[in-house]
Amino acid sequence: MTDLTGRRALITGGARGLGLQTATTLAARGAAVVLADIDADAGADAAASVPGAHFVHLDVTDDASWEAATAAAVDALGGLDTVVNNAGIEISDLFVDLDADNARRILDVNVLGTALGIKHAFRAMRPGGAASVGGVIVNVASVAANIAFPGIAIYSATKSAVVRLTKVAAAESGRLGYGVRVNAICPGLVPNAMGAQLAGDMERLELFPSAGEAVTAVVGLTPSGRLATEEDIANGVAFLVSDTAAFVNGHSLSVDGAMGM
Ligand SMILES: NC(=O)c1ccc[n+]([C@@H]2O[C@H](COP(=O)([O-])OP(=O)(O)OC[C@H]3O[C@@H](n4cnc5c(N)ncnc54)[C@H](O)[C@@H]3O)[C@@H](O)[C@H]2O)c1
Repeated sequence: MTDLTGRRALITGGARGLGLQTATTLAARGAAVVLADIDADAGADAAASVPGAHFVHLDVTDDASWEAATAAAVDALGGLDTVVNNAGIEISDLFVDLDADNARRILDVNVLGTALGIKHAFRAMRPGGAASVGGVIVNVASVAANIAFPGIAIYSATKSAVVRLTKVAAAESGRLGYGVRVNAICPGLVPNAMGAQLAGDMERLELFPSAGEAVTAVVGLTPSGRLATEEDIANGVAFLVSDTAAFVNGHSLSVDGAMGM
């Protein structure tokens, strides 16, 4: 198990799901963690369930909110060397029914939210920043960045964008000597709240007769023959955060049972 003792991490979308599991996993390996989320009630409850964790309110689409949240994280943890840009939303639509407001919202949270997260992580962690020790950013993309599945066009586009943001950020960090590695992780379908919503969408859009049959189709497209667990994904994040991955940079790590190969 990778040792993360002494690491100081901010995890967005930490109130539930993959963000909460990531915070739990990083904390179990010795990291001090701040959970950041737009849902203050759930976020505070989540932080209470993770040993030593703090909660800060954050809307990832809002620059000022990021400024305040990173300052609060540096203050609470006495520094900052890890940011996991995990917050994201999923809205499915067929092209023929594409809703422009929904599309703008998902682009805002998944793409702009991740880009602002990179901005504020760099500003805090680069030389002269509030934390100033370099570090690691992990951006949560999706298997959807690597496949073409009906009904999730805009979601897939946002996750492909997250992978590309990651690579440009790694290049910029290297060029400007920030000392920050930047990687992405591409999780396969996880049967949690978002996974269930996605499966339900497939039935609602009449792409599959039922949510269960949509899930069966995903498993059928997955060489490892099962869905992902939240632990699978959090373990992948822990690897990318750790010094074991010291020369892994600008990479997009698929944790999807080879569905997206
Ligand atoms: N669940 C899956 O099957 C799956 C698969 C691949 C990738 N992902 C990605 O993993 C990440 C986490 O997914 P999850 O399954 O835990 O989803 P989830 O819906 O359970 O949790 C998302 C969290 O993000 C928070 N959030 C939403 N908008 C926000 C905003 N503007 N600012 C701050 N926080 C905000 C929510 O309050 C929630 O706590 C997402 O980026 C998602 O796209 C999920």
